[in-house]
Amino acid sequence: MNSPTVLVTGATGTVGSALIPALRARGAHVRAMTRSSGRAFPGAETVVADLQDPRSVAAALDGTDAVFLNSPSTPEAAALQIQFADLARDGGVRHLVLLSQYGARADSPVRFLRWHAEVEAHVHQLGIDHTVLRPNLYLQALLGFAGTIAQGRLAAPIGDAPVSAIDTRDIAEAAAAVLTDAGRTGGTYTLTGPRAVTHQQIARALSAAAGHEITFQDVPAEQFSAALTGVLPPWQLEGLIEDYAHYARREAAEVHTAVADLTGRPARDVTDFARDHAAAFAPNH
Ligand SMILES: NC(=O)c1ccc[n+]([C@@H]2O[C@H](COP(=O)([O-])OP(=O)(O)OC[C@H]3O[C@@H](n4cnc5c(N)ncnc54)[C@H](OP(=O)(O)O)[C@@H]3O)[C@@H](O)[C@H]2O)c1
Repeated sequence: MNSPTVLVTGATGTVGSALIPALRARGAHVRAMTRSSGRAFPGAETVVADLQDPRSVAAALDGTDAVFLNSPSTPEAAALQIQFADLARDGGVRHLVLLSQYGARADSPVRFLRWHAEVEAHVHQLGIDHTVLRPNLYLQALLGFAGTIAQGRLAAPIGDAPVSAIDTRDIAEAAAAVLTDAGRTGGTYTLTGPRAVTHQQIARALSAAAGHEITFQDVPAEQFSAALTGVLPPWQLEGLIEDYAHYARREAAEVHTAVADLTGRPARDVTDFARDHAAAFAPNH
């Protein structure tokens, strides 16, 4: 595909914001979708649309060759993503790249994984080219806990289970490869970091980079949940606890080579993430 026009949903989000420059570097014309008017994305066209508003989505899709579909895992996410996929097909989009999650399965005890599986199943019978990306736990999710980590404590209900957590910059670069290289179209890629790491190892990497002692504390799910009650909405908190139970069962430790296969270079290690975000975990941040 020569200079395809790619619509990036969730353009202000963790993966979307890194995907825009990655696509630009590969010569794509980028349309960045956000619900906020007045947002600007260097090197990209801005389109204002809301997944809850099909007319705005149809207008955003008009004239696009490929789309990257990503939205927060809200209870209505599956229905909204399915609606988006139908509009993309009806609008003549040639390739849909779906951001799913490692371990997506219709019978998973983790609600997010069931919702992702529902969208995957829909996309498989849509009748257009599609590629599914299933990233594991985001290392950037640690930034949400930067305040307590900067005080020396990383707490999670995960024990000593290893997880092949991934840097979201690698998800973006893998997605850019899939969206711009016709030879990569199709299939399901499980995206992981280069090794599975325990939270003790993550704490050690953060300590070394931030220059102060950060200790991992395995906490019961109830304690973790109590600390976040009122901070996250109940559905998100309950889903997060299910996610951590899945990690603690050692179900998210496989290492896949998809990032290196797609981008031509190894996936970033937790030590790379820690070095590049050291300031966020420094004391008094
Ligand atoms: N966190 C992890 O460890 C992890 C691991 C694997 C997979 N995932 C998956 O990653 C996905 C993204 O999750 P995230 O929390 O990291 O979100 P995110 O991609 O950082 O951000 C969400 C984006 O969605 C946009 N958005 C929200 N509501 C929207 C709506 N109604 N219409 C259009 N756009 C909307 C927001 O854009 P505007 O506000 O600019 O409109 C924002 O840019 C989820 O499906 C999750 O399951 C996460």
